[in-house]
Amino acid sequence: MDMKNLNGKTALVTGAASGIGRETALAFARRGADIVICDIDEAGMKATADAIRTLGCEVYTHRVDVANAGEMEAFADAVHARVPAVDILMNNAGVAIAGTFLATSLEDWDWILGINTRGVVHGCHFFIPAMVKRGTGGHVINVSSAAGYTVSSVLAAYNTTKFSVLGLTEALWEELHPHGIGVTAVCPGLIDTPITRSAKLVGQMDKPEMREEMVEGYRKRGYGPDRVATNILKAVQCNRLVAPISPEAWGLYYLKRFAPGLLRWFGLKMGQSRLNN
Ligand SMILES: NC(=O)c1ccc[n+]([C@@H]2O[C@H](COP(=O)([O-])OP(=O)(O)OC[C@H]3O[C@@H](n4cnc5c(N)ncnc54)[C@H](O)[C@@H]3O)[C@@H](O)[C@H]2O)c1
Repeated sequence: MDMKNLNGKTALVTGAASGIGRETALAFARRGADIVICDIDEAGMKATADAIRTLGCEVYTHRVDVANAGEMEAFADAVHARVPAVDILMNNAGVAIAGTFLATSLEDWDWILGINTRGVVHGCHFFIPAMVKRGTGGHVINVSSAAGYTVSSVLAAYNTTKFSVLGLTEALWEELHPHGIGVTAVCPGLIDTPITRSAKLVGQMDKPEMREEMVEGYRKRGYGPDRVATNILKAVQCNRLVAPISPEAWGLYYLKRFAPGLLRWFGLKMGQSRLNN
């Protein structure tokens, strides 16, 4: 899809009250798109919508929990009452859990699988059929992570959800290609967003000093969501299937492909030192 001029196009972003979702919705608006956003954080969504309106763009907001199929269906019905189909669908809403598999409860699994995996499935389920039916193409962007192709012993649940998003996206690429719909899995590295504050810490990770280490580490890394948004537009323009974003995400991507044994050895050392602390 030509991302230079999105006049007359509609771009939908889930989880747009904050971070990567907010910045990418704004980037789409700067290219002239009409914007549809949803989130559970109504105050944050209003702030995003206000910023989009100051750019002179149309914005439609809806409070939706992406994990809830009924809410997502009602959202899709409301959107499709306005436009026959969206041109860009970005399944971005996500949460994180830091902690080992042994420390992760079934309630934690339900929570993260509901939002990160089923939320993306819901977005695809309720919005892609209309894109196919309209027959004029479009683009689906699913936000995975560098944790969607590399693992850490303290990201077992998060890894599971982000691998699933990458797998679904690769399968969709094949299925939607004949319909002229592009598909991209976005795989950011360490991005300084409020997710460092909202991530759930479990087991040995559940300590105030761990939280501060994470918040500070990401802050010092200094890679903001605005840069992610710029790179998402480039990835869609080039019709990339997998788009690592940030140098560490690219580094891990190539290590996984060309030196998986080295990556596993490094992961083992990192995991041991983390869990011994
Ligand atoms: N920040 C990073 O380092 C990083 C790295 C790789 C991938 N990601 C992914 O990027 C995406 C965006 O994360 P972010 O870093 O911008 O975090 P963020 O916390 O700033 O934004 C996430 C947004 O999702 C919303 N959300 C959470 N649960 C929801 C639900 N049930 N229904 C609707 N909205 C919901 C939140 O309210 C928030 O506005 C996530 O999928 C995340 O996993 C982030």
